[in-house]
Formats: sequence, structure tokens, C-alpha cells
Amino acid sequence: MRLQGKTALVTGARGGIGRAIVARFEREGARVYAADLTETGSISNASAAELPGNFVKLDVTSEADAINAMQRVRADVGHLDILINAAGIEIEKTIEDTTLDEWNRSFAVNVTGTFLTSKHALPLMRAAAQNGATASLINFGSYDGFIADPGLAAYCATKGAVHALTRAMACDHGPEGIRVNAICPGYIDTPMLQSFFTGDGSGGGGKSIDDLQQAVRDVHPMRSYGTPDDIANLVTWLASDEARYASGQLWILDGGLSAQVQQMKL
Ligand SMILES: NC(=O)c1ccc[n+]([C@@H]2O[C@H](COP(=O)([O-])OP(=O)(O)OC[C@H]3O[C@@H](n4cnc5c(N)ncnc54)[C@H](O)[C@@H]3O)[C@@H](O)[C@H]2O)c1
Repeated sequence: MRLQGKTALVTGARGGIGRAIVARFEREGARVYAADLTETGSISNASAAELPGNFVKLDVTSEADAINAMQRVRADVGHLDILINAAGIEIEKTIEDTTLDEWNRSFAVNVTGTFLTSKHALPLMRAAAQNGATASLINFGSYDGFIADPGLAAYCATKGAVHALTRAMACDHGPEGIRVNAICPGYIDTPMLQSFFTGDGSGGGGKSIDDLQQAVRDVHPMRSYGTPDDIANLVTWLASDEARYASGQLWILDGGLSAQVQQMKL
């Protein structure tokens, strides 16, 4: 078991990707705090009792919630080996159609949320990174922080900010034994992706959902989109001691999507 004896806190833990990470971390031997707005998060098909991890109610935009969550971890364990900042929202609009409230909300959850949870986790992570051990902090960027999907302007901007923040935190906290990385997924099959397919910003132009999904698969070199377990695999390695020298990087996992130029029909 790769995470035996470690303590982890995951935000957005009841979303598609968060659930896969929490379940995998428990299988790998970790004690996991599953933080989200509600016990079932973005997926309501399971009762809270069936879900993995110790639920912590945490709105990442609230500094008081971040402090309370870390106080609970401090009281229970006294340190935190792993923090995963997976909470996120996506507004599917161009900037002209985005209201100031939507813009501010996007930054509040995706960027300020990452800042607040990390800020209040750092003392506990410093306590974990003793005697040559490292602690691992993993943010969620996106391939949209490098290249843009049409109709996702605020989202793309927030993910670019998360990428820059990740590098800055890695520089500041590496000397303390805290590794900081970002996972940058491509298209991963979760409620967020389904909302993209059904939303106005997907550029579907009247296509059926099935046709749209097939078109997205076809444009990937791997001819599929990813699963939450694909993401959990990389997160597990980055969280483990095997990744002791990995820090400050933006790890793209997108089935090769961002490696290619648009295929031209000549
Ligand atoms: N699914 C994809 O294709 C994809 C691609 C690139 C990046 N990502 C990123 O991966 C992360 C997880 O996405 P997902 O696909 O699992 O999305 P999801 O919508 O399934 O889950 C997101 C979770 O975040 C929670 N959340 C939202 N606002 C919150 C807040 N203020 N405080 C605490 N929790 C909050 C939601 O309740 C939900 O459970 C996000 O940061 C997302 O931007 C996803």
C-alpha cells in the first residue's frame, strides 16, 4: 500500500474526480478527510453512508471553514501529509456573456479556494515533513490553463492562475519539505464534463449529445476521454514517497489532446 500511515485531506471530495481519489487513497492505506459543500457533492446517486472518507463540510471560499477543517485534522492527527485541492466550478461562457458575479465566483472557488485551503494546511504539512519525509500538496489546474476551449473564458483564466500559484508555492515551500504540483486534466468523464456537453459554451452548434461526445473522442489521439480513476492513478503516485523529487510541475493528463495541432482535412 503506497500511502500507508499517511493523512490526506481532499477538497471537492464528493465530485467525480474527488470521489475516485478518496476511494483510492483509502485502498492505499491513508486516513482521508473528504471535504465538500455537501455530503454528496456533485453526484447524488449514493447515500452519504456509502461514500468513502471522513466527511468535512468545507466551502473553500470561506476562510473560517478552512481554519475549522484544519483544526479538526490537528486535533485528530496533528499533521497532514497530503492536501488535494480538487474543488472547482466551470462557467461555460465567453467574457461578454459572463457577469461580474460569475467571474468573481469562478475566481473565489478555483483560485481563492486553493489559496485559503493551502494557507491553513501549510502548518500541518510542515509538521508532516520532518526527518527527511516530504509532504505533498496537489492543486487542480487544467489543460484549459495552457490552451483554450471556446466559451470557457473565466474557467481558463482561473486555471492559468492556479498553474502560476502552483509554481510559486513550490518555490516557497520546497525548502520546508513540501512538494507542490498541479494535475492538469483534459476531458475527464465527471458531472463537470457532462455539464460542458449540455451547456451553451460547448460549441455544440445543434449537434446531439452523442454526436458531440463522439466528436470529442475522435479528436483525442487516444480516441477516448479519461476517467476519474486515470486521474487518481497519477495523484496517488504524486502523493506517495516514490515522488519525493517531483515538485513545481504541471502534470497534463489528457490522452494526448494538447500534443497535437488541429487535424486539417486537406
Ligand atoms: N472533469 C474534467 O474534464 C476536468 C478537466 C480539467 C480540470 N478539472 C478539474 O478537476 C477538479 C474536479 O473536477 P470534477 O470533474 O470532479 O468536477 P465535479 O463538478 O464533479 O466536482 C467538483 C466538486 O467540487 C465541489 N465544490 C464546488 N464548489 C465548492 C466550494 N465552494 N467548496 C467546496 N467544494 C466545492 C462540488 O460540490 C463538487 O463535488 C476541478 O478543479 C476541475 O476544474 C476537471
